[in-house]
Amino acid sequence: MAKRRPLIAGNWKMFKSCQDAVDTARLLAGLASGADHTDIMIAPSFTSLFPVSQVLKSSAIALGAQNLHWEKEGAFTGEISADMLHSCGCSHVIIGHSERRQFFGECDETVNKRIACAVSNHLVPVFCIGETEIEREQDKTMNILDKQVKDGLKGLGSDELKALVLAYEPVWAIGTGKTATPDQVQDVHLFLRSLIGDVYGIEFAKSIRIIYGGSVKPANISELMMLEDVDGALVGGASLDAETFNKIIRFK
Ligand code: 13P
Repeated sequence: MAKRRPLIAGNWKMFKSCQDAVDTARLLAGLASGADHTDIMIAPSFTSLFPVSQVLKSSAIALGAQNLHWEKEGAFTGEISADMLHSCGCSHVIIGHSERRQFFGECDETVNKRIACAVSNHLVPVFCIGETEIEREQDKTMNILDKQVKDGLKGLGSDELKALVLAYEPVWAIGTGKTATPDQVQDVHLFLRSLIGDVYGIEFAKSIRIIYGGSVKPANISELMMLEDVDGALVGGASLDAETFNKIIRFK
């Protein structure tokens, strides 16, 4: 079977003022124009979503947010809803990033509520999972991922999850310059696809995109994209510069 259509996504985390975000998005839209071999998404901070959406209107680059709250509206100071993301032009949302899990109390249960909310509001969830260095050393990687996936998707059916993107981001490879080896990445992605297959059926598992994140750069994207079960990348640091990110988008 042909591989799935790739997705190269940039997570800008807590970087860039509105003006910087708009300038970078504009430059990227120009550089990446015609790159129709892949889907492209960028996720600026909340404050830059609307102005960046105006820049991306005439490009094929999709806009994503870095989180959302599961309630429709209400007294939830500091939170942001699916309707608000839609009104800013978002089509995607990153959920369960390890930085949310590590620093902001995110857990599988809240991840599950956010994914349910995203899919019921037609936002593509980019669902992040990954093990820490200690968990890998203790040989617990697959157990941890199994739990994160099953708990994160609890109660959701394959019809609701058609657009799901699973992002494998080993915590020890994020922002450290340590990329997982191609063998490590392929092993995990294959495991994740068969796990999805056990729950939702093999045809569904074959249709789902599983992307890799953790120190992805122009120098390693091509070897990652050659792997059978890698369908794209979630890029942090190297997505902040339009020219560098464009080199990743233009992987061979
Ligand atoms: P880096 O590419 O900076 O390692 O970050 C990866 C990441 O966390 C993307 O969500």
